[in-house]
This record gives sequence, C-alpha cells and structure tokens, in this order.
Amino acid sequence: MSVIENAIKRLQASQVAAAPARSPSPAARRPEPTGETTTSTRIIPIDLDGLRSVGLLPPAHQEREIAQQYRQIKRPLINSALGRGVEPLPQGNLVMVASAVPGEGKTFTSLNLALSMRLEEDVTVLLVDGDVVNPRLSQVLGADDVRGLLDVAKDPSLSLSSAILQTDIPGLSFLPAGHQDPKATELLASARMQDVVAQLSRQDPSRLVLFDSAPLLLTTESHALTDVAGQILLVVRADQTPQHAVLDAIDTLSEGKSVSLVLNQSTKQPHSGYYYRYLNRKADGKDDAS
Ligand SMILES: Nc1ncnc2c1ncn2[C@@H]1O[C@H](COP(=O)(O)OP(=O)(O)OP(=O)(O)O)[C@@H](O)[C@H]1O
Ligand SMILES: [Mg+2]
Repeated sequence: MSVIENAIKRLQASQVAAAPARSPSPAARRPEPTGETTTSTRIIPIDLDGLRSVGLLPPAHQEREIAQQYRQIKRPLINSALGRGVEPLPQGNLVMVASAVPGEGKTFTSLNLALSMRLEEDVTVLLVDGDVVNPRLSQVLGADDVRGLLDVAKDPSLSLSSAILQTDIPGLSFLPAGHQDPKATELLASARMQDVVAQLSRQDPSRLVLFDSAPLLLTTESHALTDVAGQILLVVRADQTPQHAVLDAIDTLSEGKSVSLVLNQSTKQPHSGYYYRYLNRKADGKDDAS
C-alpha cells in the first residue's frame, strides 16, 4: 500500500501546485476536418474464449469476482466523464489507461473495463489501441493490418469514422493502432491528433473512449495521450512495480490532471481479489483541457 499512498501524496502536492486554467490550445479550436461521412462497415468478432486463452480476460471461475471489481473501478470514471453527481471533467469521457513500466496490466484493464462500461445504460464505449509501440489489442482482435489511430493522425483525408470498427458486442467499438510509423511520437503529439481526439470527445458525449497505452517511463509515444485524456487510470502491479517508478510516472503527467490509481493483481487480504483497493484522487481539472 505504501506505493499507492506515496503516489497519492505526490498527486495531492501537484494539485496544490496546479497552475490556473489555460485557454484551449489553437489546435483544440481548429475546425473539424472534412470527410467524416465515410463509416467503416466492417464488424469484428470479439472471441471471448480466445481472449481468455491469451490471458486478457479472467478465467471463468474468477469472472464474477473480477467483474465486481471492475464495477467499482468504472463508477467514479463514468461519473466524472458524464457529470453524474459530480462536475464533469473536461474531456472526461477520454480515459487513458497508463502505467509506469511494461506488464502492469494496462491491456487487461482496458479490455475488462471496456466490457464492463458498455453494460451501462445510455453509454457506448470506444476502445482505442493507443499502444502504438506494442499494439497487442489490435493483434489479438485481428486488426493489426488495418487503418487506425496513427493513419488518421497522419492523413487528414482519412476520416476518423472510417477507421472505427464496430464489434459484435453491442455498445462496443474499436479503433486499432494503425500502421506502424517511425514518426509515431510526433504524429501522436501533432495538432492533427489533437483534432482527432477532440472529435472523439465531441462526436458523441455519451461515448466513453478508453485508450490502452504504452508504458510511460520507457516510451515517448504515450505522453501525448496523457495531454489529451481527461482522466488517467494508472495501473500499478502489486508487489512488483517499484515505488519510485510510480512516482516518476506521475511526475510525467501534467499538473491538475485527474488521476486514479488501481492496484492490480494483489493477493493480499482482506480482499483476496486482483484489486483490493481503488483510490481516486481528483485534481481540480482546470488546466488539463489542452
Ligand atoms: N488482473 C489480472 N488478472 C490476471 N492476469 C492479469 C491481470 N492483469 C494482468 N494480467 C496478466 O499479466 C500480463 C500482462 O498484462 P498486460 O498485457 O495487460 O500488461 P500491459 O501493462 O498491457 O503490458 P505492456 O506494457 O507490455 O503492454 C498478461 O499476460 C495478463 O494476462
Ligand atoms: Mg499492453
């Protein structure tokens, strides 16, 4: 627990130090690119057994327990996204699942959270493979050779809608990572990318957009995503992630950003599940809408 508690303290300190609200960036005010009428008609099947066999869904005997944990994790995220009982966060419907180092459970969390969130009334979910370094979601969903986030960020003539794939699970769509590009970091940090993400937020305010991502401390690609996401869910692997790594990862996030921490794969009592505590430290969110 000390990792989480120290991380929370660091977040509290950054909240106090948060700068006053900035104006929206010029990129955020740019007009929407044209060509948004073409919609992808491809429907991808989600093979739940296949996902279970590659370890991205819990084994059948743990399904209920894990589902209950994701119910708890999703609630504050949804409330902040949609302003249910709390002030909505700017771009709060864009949720980035992040971690300090590889293997902490980002992809597992993104997928399980997406499946849980799509069960909500009046909500749809777009799962985005924002891990352009290791696009595992795109691979396991059989969408690693189709256009996706990077292609749309690169080519203004490509519509966002044309890259979004519907799935055979009601309420769940998927945006693949797209074709690899040596300039992926620059593309993700580009003004065009900001336009794309702003569209994701605006197009359908009841749509929750969940970004899987690359580890913050080992890659540069995911830093641009932290700027555009309204909420960040930082996954910390129990008894494995060094405390300094968690604190360093938090240091890479802009001040005032809303960050939630989830302790993954804990086996500690009294809750013997994978998640035994979920702490959500809300910052004021005023300076993070760039
Ligand atoms: N809560 C969990 N319960 C069971 N297995 C889990 C859980 N979280 C993660 N795993 C397992 O741990 C491994 C790493 O998880 P995952 O691929 O989600 O990590 P990651 O943070 O996305 O890694 P990378 O940074 O390499 O993309 C996977 O094999 C996954 O099956
Ligand atoms: Mg991953």
